[in-house]
Amino acid sequence: MPTTIKKAVIPAAGLGTRFLPVTKAVSKVMLPVLNTPTVEFALNELIKSGLTKVAIVVSNQNTDIRRYFHGNNDVQIEYIVQESADGLGDAILQTKQWINDEPFCVLLPDDLIFSNKPTIKTMIDIYSQFNSSVIALKQVGNEMVPFLGIVESYQIDESIDQIIKCVEKPRLENAPSNQAIIGRYVFTPDIFEYIERTKKGALGEIQITDAINSQADNGSVYGYKFSGMHFDTGNPLGLLKASVYLTLQDQNESVHLKEFIRSLKD
Ligand code: UTP
Repeated sequence: MPTTIKKAVIPAAGLGTRFLPVTKAVSKVMLPVLNTPTVEFALNELIKSGLTKVAIVVSNQNTDIRRYFHGNNDVQIEYIVQESADGLGDAILQTKQWINDEPFCVLLPDDLIFSNKPTIKTMIDIYSQFNSSVIALKQVGNEMVPFLGIVESYQIDESIDQIIKCVEKPRLENAPSNQAIIGRYVFTPDIFEYIERTKKGALGEIQITDAINSQADNGSVYGYKFSGMHFDTGNPLGLLKASVYLTLQDQNESVHLKEFIRSLKD
């Protein structure tokens, strides 16, 4: 029987350079879609999925995140400091002691997904079926391939693939497919050993994609081809699109937004 998953990690210690200058004073995950910080969407998805213990990986500068959640009683939040922004793999590695040899989830607030059933909940169900790590996958256009983690995989069923290998930011001509890794993961705890063995890449960062590749090589990793509306809010245009999308879902507000956009074209 696979171990039940109770713990989740939200990495939030990145530098957020694509949002400079605002990230000189505000953490990237505190930037809002309409009036709600992206980190709160992430936390809500975890709560809806039944997870009650969450570690947020922060830098020493991210004091606004602690202030924001101060007094929140919905979930137990632990803050774990990543001393220097040495990559997502390194951020996850900081939680090794807190995770304590259990399977766990990782959710990146940059990847906002609107769907009826929370994506991470479906991935926990897939983990229970296979007792293996699970990563979220999305078919992306050629122009996005050199910026993302890309997988080679074979299909198990309509929504599940088994991963053969993954590569971080491949050149388009070397990419094994157009299926990209999106920021939702369920990891078996042996992922920490693979992260520890991963060498820093060209940018001096420990990439989680390399550790997942080793895990797929030595055991098994599954991919969930999620449905739902996905936004990469890690860049200003993506964050704006998410706000536009949410406004268009609101019957009262959508009229005004559409009117405004039409008025710009005239
Ligand atoms: P990104 O790759 O988007 O990096 O991180 P970033 O630093 O946040 O943003 P840019 O590229 O400089 O604009 C993906 C996720 O991993 C976390 C980030 O906070 C984000 O949630 N992360 C990244 C860390 O926690 N630590 C790191 O060292 C790097």
